Amino acid sequence: MPGGWDSVMARLDAAAALLDDERPIRPPQGGAGPYRLGVDLGTADVVVMAVDAEGNPAAAFLEWASVVRDGVVVDYFGAIELTRKLVAKAEKRLGVHFTEAATSFPPGTDPRLSTNILDAAGLTVSGFADEPTCVALLAGLNNAAVVDIGGGTTGTAVIKGGRVVFSADEPTGGHHLTLVLSGALRLPYAEAELKKRGPGNEAYAATLAPVFERIADIVRKHIRGHKVRSVHLTGGTCCFPGIDKIFERELGLPVVLPSQPLLLTPLAIASLRLPATGRGT
Ligand SMILES: Nc1ncnc2c1ncn2[C@@H]1O[C@H](COP(=O)(O)OP(=O)(O)OP(=O)(O)O)[C@@H](O)[C@H]1O
Ligand SMILES: [Mg+2]
Repeated sequence: MPGGWDSVMARLDAAAALLDDERPIRPPQGGAGPYRLGVDLGTADVVVMAVDAEGNPAAAFLEWASVVRDGVVVDYFGAIELTRKLVAKAEKRLGVHFTEAATSFPPGTDPRLSTNILDAAGLTVSGFADEPTCVALLAGLNNAAVVDIGGGTTGTAVIKGGRVVFSADEPTGGHHLTLVLSGALRLPYAEAELKKRGPGNEAYAATLAPVFERIADIVRKHIRGHKVRSVHLTGGTCCFPGIDKIFERELGLPVVLPSQPLLLTPLAIASLRLPATGRGT
């Protein structure tokens, strides 16, 4: 897999351009198979992405759903059904039948959270690693930290000498930002969530600052004692305008923001080349 942050960003933009595109593609216009599939079962959404033999995105489908919460599957059958539905969309677009997929989980939690869902959806698990580790492996980072700020949790992986030497996760993420905004604006949760993601959301930066500071505290604790030279962000919460500047200030380190934070972890999962060994605990 060609590494390097710039090459990953180019693939990420390609994934964003074809997100939720159900139109069938066939070689030679379409990518070169065989395709690899990844399933990201998150707190806020489920993303299924397929990449071709060169690692270029060929299909990507996202659905907002609350089938997982803080590393626990709260709607087991909903998760299976949604996985099947999104995989079927990818199959239809690419004209293939998938029998296996890679998946991921928050660092420090049981991988069976996700692997059981894939099994139940009729997919053999081709590989898995925790979320920030998937991104670190994809980008080939070194002496760096990947921080995945999703809907429910903030997970960190530290990479040194080309290896992941530390990974951990704590339950603070976009969900907590929405809770704070909902309280501050006296709006129902669903409305506050849309305001947080919508145009002009930078106006809420001051209201949300305490949660961002709490997330920065988590990251500071995770990377303490490691010689981290830069922090690479991923996860949908990093779509919030100016988050890189907040982290640069809080951590005193260069912070790298991907062009499409919501899709980087799913791309990294689909691109995973790890064998499915050591299944769960
Ligand atoms: N434009 C935006 N501005 C702010 N937050 C956003 C934006 N777009 C998405 N988000 C937030 O990103 C979060 C979802 O990100 P992501 O898909 O990475 O999480 P997840 O994988 O479902 O969760 P987790 O990894 O914690 O289980 C949600 O909390 C959502 O509100
Ligand atoms: Mg996630």
